[in-house]
Amino acid sequence: MPQIDQYLQDEAPRFEQELCQFLQIPSVSADPDCRDDMHRTARWVADQFKGLGFATEVVETSGHPLVYAESPPVEDAPTALVYGHYDVQPPDPLDAWISPPFTPTERDGNLYARGATDDKGQLLTHIKAAEAWIRTEGRLPINLKFIIEGEEEVGSEALEKFIPEQAQRLACDCVVISDGSQFAPGRPAINYGLRGIACYELHVNGPNRDLHSGSFGGSITNPANALAALMAGLIDSQGRIQVPGFYDDVVPLSDHERKELASLPFNEKEYFEGVGVKEALGEVGHTTLERRWARPTLDINGLWSGYQGEGAKTVLPASAGAKFSFRLVPNQDPEKITASLQWKLAELCPPGIELELIAMHGSGGVMVPLDSPYIAAAARAIEHAFGCPPVFTREGGSIPIVTTFHEALGADALLLGWGQDDDNTHSPNEKFCLADFHRGIKASARLWKELSNL
Ligand code: BES
Ligand code: MN
Ligand code: MN
Repeated sequence: MPQIDQYLQDEAPRFEQELCQFLQIPSVSADPDCRDDMHRTARWVADQFKGLGFATEVVETSGHPLVYAESPPVEDAPTALVYGHYDVQPPDPLDAWISPPFTPTERDGNLYARGATDDKGQLLTHIKAAEAWIRTEGRLPINLKFIIEGEEEVGSEALEKFIPEQAQRLACDCVVISDGSQFAPGRPAINYGLRGIACYELHVNGPNRDLHSGSFGGSITNPANALAALMAGLIDSQGRIQVPGFYDDVVPLSDHERKELASLPFNEKEYFEGVGVKEALGEVGHTTLERRWARPTLDINGLWSGYQGEGAKTVLPASAGAKFSFRLVPNQDPEKITASLQWKLAELCPPGIELELIAMHGSGGVMVPLDSPYIAAAARAIEHAFGCPPVFTREGGSIPIVTTFHEALGADALLLGWGQDDDNTHSPNEKFCLADFHRGIKASARLWKELSNL
């Protein structure tokens, strides 16, 4: 495909400019003030497809709009459905950014901006790959459908409904998603597993008002103390989660997979140094990669109670609260876990405290069979663009909609992450390596060709 690869080279600067335009729109799905910007971003994405002659629709929902587009039909060719999300995480804390989050800035071959890697930069690779085919060959070698949502970071409510409702329209042979990471710089990967997730908020209510901790302390339960004990009671010193039945459905790693993971060139020392911690900690009996990719975990994501200001204040707070989440592995069922968690929290709850547990979004883990022709096609495309074959990895993060695609459309996902682990996803100074952006486009353009031969 020399003509297409030449086109990609010639147009590379413009692709970067367009990515910068895309990144300038603050499409923070969690922020109600961004409602208009969400619409602007959806229209920007839709205009990309319209410019290629795709049948394009901006679908209004009860939340943020979806963009759906189809390439002109190609008879007797397979169909790939590309998924991505144009929404981004909130940029806070703002003062930790070296350049402002919505002013894309290049430093050392990386483009810094909120959404650079998650997921605007990655999803744009597939649009630009389609463009290269249309502008050089006049047509694509396969049928492409694109579904780009604006609510991934807040639970994908609209898309979870849209997929089963529109299953016929979305029918495809495989789903293509670039919303994750390579194994390391120069080590592209195909992900065959994602963890699931179950998110909660817990409210711990005690006395009817904040009290003097000298006058009242020691005679009634302090909700902040209670919350600390409750959360600590959910996991033991071996890193094992103490919710009854939590591990019942966990599929243990096979010896074969453990060996495969152990043989990956993973540099523990660099990993810990990169995040500024000195020692590993996690579930006993598992390696760091197993803990990150293939074992369930519990993390507190936020905690609040009592006095946060300067100096001391001897208060016994009336209430306390936490946001926390489990990462789940394939076969664990978030609903079963919620029921069991309710029971466990009630058991741990001290007298004088009322608990309220709110279950937020949840989804199971994902495994993609590796012995499919689609995986082989993707491996060839990646080797063409990156100059070396992909390694097969799992991911610790979650893309809950992958399960819905599988259940509603019967299609497996090709999880082709073009990012890097140090891209600062959800953190200040998010970045995307521009060389990876262009290699991603090249791999995608080749993928359409490889899939057309199946
Ligand atoms: N792109 C990420 C998922 C991801 C993270 C994949 C790291 C690979 C590596 C996605 O945008 C995300 O943030 N997902 C959330 C899901 C949640 C909001 C239900 C996550 O994993 O926390
Ligand atoms: Mn993402
Ligand atoms: Mn994300």
